[in-house]
Amino acid sequence: MHSPADINAIPAANGTARPPVRVIAVASGKGGVGKTSVSVNLAMALVHAGQRTLLLDTDLGLANVDVMLGLSPQFTLADVFAGRCELQDTLLEGPRGLWVVPAASGKRHMTELLPQQHIGLVHAFCQLDLPLDAMVVDNAAGISDSVLTFCQAAQDVIVVVCDEPASVTDAYALIKVLSRERGVTRVQVLANQVNNAIEGKQLFEKLERVSARFLDVTLHYLGAVPRDEWLRRAIQRQEAVVEAFPGCPSALAFRDIARRANSWQSPVGPRGGVEFFMERLVAHGASAASTNDPLRSAVA
Ligand SMILES: Nc1ncnc2c1ncn2[C@@H]1O[C@H](COP(=O)(O)OP(=O)(O)O)[C@@H](O)[C@H]1O
Ligand SMILES: [Mg+2]
Repeated sequence: MHSPADINAIPAANGTARPPVRVIAVASGKGGVGKTSVSVNLAMALVHAGQRTLLLDTDLGLANVDVMLGLSPQFTLADVFAGRCELQDTLLEGPRGLWVVPAASGKRHMTELLPQQHIGLVHAFCQLDLPLDAMVVDNAAGISDSVLTFCQAAQDVIVVVCDEPASVTDAYALIKVLSRERGVTRVQVLANQVNNAIEGKQLFEKLERVSARFLDVTLHYLGAVPRDEWLRRAIQRQEAVVEAFPGCPSALAFRDIARRANSWQSPVGPRGGVEFFMERLVAHGASAASTNDPLRSAVA
């Protein structure tokens, strides 16, 4: 059994302390609202802003970060869990040095990580020892234990919402469980595919009203990304829109959002690297873990 304290025993490979990595989880409740588009473009915009960034795809059901970036992974996170490779074998270098860990390709049955797999991921990440400033975690749709755990472990959660009743109710359901069951007190709301700025603000206010009434969580409005044909074209070209069409409306919005994300208070912690994030993952998963080889305990 691993405990959060076990992580303390894992030294950074170069033995030096680094500031904790800023970890941002992107989630939405409902599928198809734009989590992956937001994750890819936020990560890329952070790279443009000089942040050494890793984009982690955790959607083992419908993984598509690699597809959106035109990358061809030889191995994915699913292969790591199946014992076919090490985490470092999955690392891809994307545009401008963005690091990408792809999730899986078409493993529809592998949509949920077991708690012990989270712990295995912790150890694997600690051993990677990449010099990073930021990590963006793209999540699956829904409110599975895995999604909640990644959100809980991150310093900031971006909940993506669009102007559809199901998107708003699913976003609220996600925020509710994060707040009530996972102790998340701060959520960033991003309105995607909006027709105008007012629509985005109204979407936020709708969520904010009901959250303020029933939940103990503070919602911040991160801003809106317009519905943008250029973004669809960029997806067709398998590029981030901030790379392919940097002057288009959605690219400008993503840059703005990255700027705001950069101004969030930096995480504070005694250790450097991704350990900060990983500790928090482990703190949740430890109680349920029971194997000595957690990463490979549940083979795909
Ligand atoms: N701002 C936007 N403007 C236009 N189309 C968008 C926008 N955001 C998302 N889309 C469309 O929605 C589809 C689903 O987006 P995606 O990021 O894959 O959602 P999710 O990861 O939440 O399932 C994309 O393929 C794209 O066609
Ligand atoms: Mg997605």
